[in-house]
Amino acid sequence: MAQIVEKIDTYTIGKSRERIDCERSFKIRPVRWEISPMQSPRIQLLETQENEEYRFGRIIGRSPAMQRIFQIIERVAPGNATVLISGRTGTGKEMVAREIHCHSPRASKPFVDINCGALPEQLAESELFGHQRGAFTGATETKKGLFETAHGGTIFFDEIQALKPELQAKLLRVLQERVIRRVGGRENLGVDVRVIAATNQDIVDAVDKGEFREDLYYRLNVVNIFLPELRERREDISLLIDHFLKRFGAETRQFSLDAMRLLLSSDWPGNVRELENAVEHACAIGSGLTLKISDLPPHLCGRVGKMGAVKPLGKMRTLDEIERRHILFILEETGDNHVRAAEILGIDRRTLYRKLDKYK
Ligand SMILES: Nc1ncnc2c1ncn2[C@@H]1O[C@H](COP(=O)(O)OP(=O)(O)OP(=O)(O)O)[C@@H](O)[C@H]1O
Ligand SMILES: [Mg+2]
Repeated sequence: MAQIVEKIDTYTIGKSRERIDCERSFKIRPVRWEISPMQSPRIQLLETQENEEYRFGRIIGRSPAMQRIFQIIERVAPGNATVLISGRTGTGKEMVAREIHCHSPRASKPFVDINCGALPEQLAESELFGHQRGAFTGATETKKGLFETAHGGTIFFDEIQALKPELQAKLLRVLQERVIRRVGGRENLGVDVRVIAATNQDIVDAVDKGEFREDLYYRLNVVNIFLPELRERREDISLLIDHFLKRFGAETRQFSLDAMRLLLSSDWPGNVRELENAVEHACAIGSGLTLKISDLPPHLCGRVGKMGAVKPLGKMRTLDEIERRHILFILEETGDNHVRAAEILGIDRRTLYRKLDKYK
């Protein structure tokens, strides 16, 4: 206990965020639940403060990767640098873009969100840059485009890899010259916008294949933020579950031990969005204060039977046992494909072999 109190003293409330950042080692802090919050009001204070360190605006995460991302957001938000956010579906790319905007001096100005995959081909240019009256059939009024709407704020290009080649060239020009020209217009209009882009695909690959302009890629990729998949930052899962339970007004409810094991060991191909849906589903279906495996979405429950690890337990199991079962389950699922299994487990192949040796 004495040791813990000593640690608490190093995180007094009065410290500035910068100071805490300097001191922050990117290790996961020891879990504090051994201490009852009732024991000391100071400890309670620390718990609240420490949870604050595990969130950045609305983004939650305590894994080293997320802590690093929080630092990057904090550093880049005040400036105007273009940011490219990459990561698989549901990893939180849009959240990161919004937090950069919210923590920037542009926060009171618009955040304009454009899904490049959904831009109608014919109208895309006029959507982005606006048009003059009479520029084309149907253009009965002069109309502002999204760049002008975002003036003073941030423009977010989601699924940037889906932007058509002509528009890629036009966006490059805006990034270089900071001016736009309406469709059918003659004059250049200056725009003050910060550009953030996101992609859930390997954009470097698209550049290699000639599908995405290399010069635009470099213009966008001034700062790169990569969001790892949820299975590669499992430390965040329990924190996210608590967060979503609160969000769905169910803070007094909790998952049974078995359900928790399943949630912690799932693959989460849909990442945080899938976890969020699973918690919402359980809150809607479950009755009583304890949410059970059967309250989770069927596709997740389906993983249980095969997995074995989350069958009702006669006795408590060790983490090693759970890890061993999960590895065996993944190997079975992948038809003993070690490369694929290591990828799913988020470890390299050598680590997988070491673990298999250990559990032999
Ligand atoms: N770290 C996080 N903390 C809290 N909620 C999160 C976090 N990451 C994602 N979410 C939640 O998950 C959902 C998906 O997030 P978001 O839309 O930002 O993902 P995305 O990477 O843009 O997904 P896609 O590629 O499918 O567009 C949102 O509802 C968001 O609230
Ligand atoms: Mg998105």
